[in-house]
Formats: sequence, structure tokens, C-alpha cells
Amino acid sequence: MAYQFPVTKTANPKARPADESKLGFGKIFTDHMFIMNYEEGKGWHNGRIVPYGPFELDPSSMVFHYAQELFEGLKAYRTADGKIQLFRPQKNIERMNNTCDRLCVPRLDPEVVLDAIKAVVEVEKEWVPHNEGTSLYIRPFIIATDAFLGVHASHTYIFAIILSPVGSYYANGMDPVKIYIEREYVRCVKGGTGMAKAGGNYAASLIGQEKADKMGYAQVLWLDGVERKYIDEVGAMNVFFVIDGTVVTPSLEDGNILPGVTRASCIEVLKANGYKVEERKISIDEVKEAYKKGTLNESFGTGTAAVISPVGEYIDGDEKIVINDGKIGPVAQFLYDELTGMQWGKIEDKFGWIVKVD
Ligand code: COI
Repeated sequence: MAYQFPVTKTANPKARPADESKLGFGKIFTDHMFIMNYEEGKGWHNGRIVPYGPFELDPSSMVFHYAQELFEGLKAYRTADGKIQLFRPQKNIERMNNTCDRLCVPRLDPEVVLDAIKAVVEVEKEWVPHNEGTSLYIRPFIIATDAFLGVHASHTYIFAIILSPVGSYYANGMDPVKIYIEREYVRCVKGGTGMAKAGGNYAASLIGQEKADKMGYAQVLWLDGVERKYIDEVGAMNVFFVIDGTVVTPSLEDGNILPGVTRASCIEVLKANGYKVEERKISIDEVKEAYKKGTLNESFGTGTAAVISPVGEYIDGDEKIVINDGKIGPVAQFLYDELTGMQWGKIEDKFGWIVKVD
């Protein structure tokens, strides 16, 4: 039996976006949100759906000082028959609990979280957009709320889920993006929080993003923090290369990169369709070598927000790597069609990845 959460409806519903072609990413929020509290002795309790609105927090709340914060990202999709469905939400919940472990936050019951996601999406189902390529982005997050300046794990937390109707993460949709290779800063080191979805990782990455923005590049490619030569990820996406027909992506073993749900799904879909896939260390020199030899067929990023995002160009200092003439490659297109096909219910879900909301 699903958990039931009390719902307090807003007295002032907002107008929903009239033009779904202009949604962009993460700018508009729905009328309601889910909230649950944690207190030592009581555990996670008081799950409820309430009108979307500001939190009142003590200025000394730990999240403001020591960044004990984590989040997740998944989406709800509207199918042609108007039904709403989720894509592998259990994977996000499992990753959220792994991030909780790394940041000393108490784990949540995965069933409660799944029921909370379904319940808040059901309340907001009119907000799930209809246009091709649009969805309702689901952002669960946890913040530490002890009013205390000692550096310790908090004893109280808020878990919340907010929802945002979205289109493409990048302004130009599926058009190949240009990516800047960061050599000065690193995103994480072995033993750090690279594999966790911690807000602090993203704060530390902003300096690279600012550099990329100034140069007219969409995102940053991060190299490993020790040898500064192996490819980690792109911050908002995991990254794949197709070299001489083999699909290669950085392995998870060092704990430096986020174990993306889209990443894992791409690997499974590719293998099931006979592609050769390798999860291993891949150096930037290997990518350049392949480029020079003419065997670098494709590169693309994968992520919930970005889905599949072809990379048209990398820049390293003044060295440019232009991939597939800056056009979408066949592997990226195949993965996009397969994943979005399942997500929007256009093709059969052979993997059992879809979870229905209504
Ligand atoms: C996602 O793909 O859901 C992410 O969390 C990336 C993000 C930081 C926009």
C-alpha cells in the first residue's frame, strides 16, 4: 500500500506557461511541493504536500555555512494518451541514499521517497507539459537545519521535492555543444565527493563554468584531480566518446564521477543492441590521438536534464577538436531516440524502466 501524505492546496494557483516552446530549464515552479522533516529520535516524519513557497530558516542553519546539502534530478513525462510516467526513479533514490551516506545525512526509506515523488507529481499533473521534448523536472533535495556553527553533522534536516516544467537544458536544444577543457581547476579528487550529488560540487565547478561562458563555450570538461589527464565528466553530464566504432566512457571505479542514471541506461541500451562499450579510464591524450588519426567518430554528454547532448567541439588552450563536423552523430541520435522513445511512451519499454504515476 502506498504511503499517503496530507495535501494542503494553494489558495492562489499560478497561471501555467502558455508557450511550452519557451520553457527552457528550471525557471518556472509549480504550485505545490513535498516536505518532510528529520529529527533525531523521531527519524524522517511529517511528510506532506503544501503550497510552493519560501522556507523560514534560522540564519545559523548549518546548510548556509557548511553546505551539508544534496539533491537529485529526474523527470515526469506525458505520454500520447495523456498519462504521466517516470524513468527509473529507484536509481535516483538509491543514489540519493548513497549521497546521504557520504554527507552524513540520515538515509530515507526508498518506498516513502518513491511514493512522495508520485504523490506530488500526481497533485501537479496538469503542470506536466505536452510539447515534444518537454517534461516536468523533479528536484528532490535535503538541507541541514540545525541552528549551530560547530562543524558537525546536523541533527535536523528538511527533505523537499520541487517541480519545474522544462524544455531543453541547453538554449539550442539537441544542437551539438562546444565544451571547454579545464586545466587549472579540478572538480574532485579520489576520496572526495565526486560520486555524490552534493551541491558543494557544483559550487566548486562554477569558476570553470564562468571561464567557459566568457569564451562562448557551453560547459566544462573536468579532468581527474591527481594526474590531470583522465577525463572525469562535464559537471551537468557524463561524457561518452565513440572511437573507431567502440563506445568509451569513464569508469566509476575511482569514485570521481557521478553515476548517472542516463549514463547507466545508455550503456545498457547500447550493449543490448550489439554495440561494443568500454567503461574505463580515458585520457584526453587518447581522445586527441584518435582525433588526429581520424578515428574519433563522436562524443556526447548524457544526463537527466540534458538527455543526450552531442559535443561538436572541445577546446584545450588554443587546440580545437572538432567532432563529426559539429553535427549530431549516429550513436548519439540512436540513444536519444531509444531513451526518449521509452520516456515518452513511444516505444516499448523492454527493460522495465518505466514507473507509471497515474
Ligand atoms: C540533472 O541532469 O538532473 C542534473 O542534476 C544536472 C544539473 C546540475 C542540471
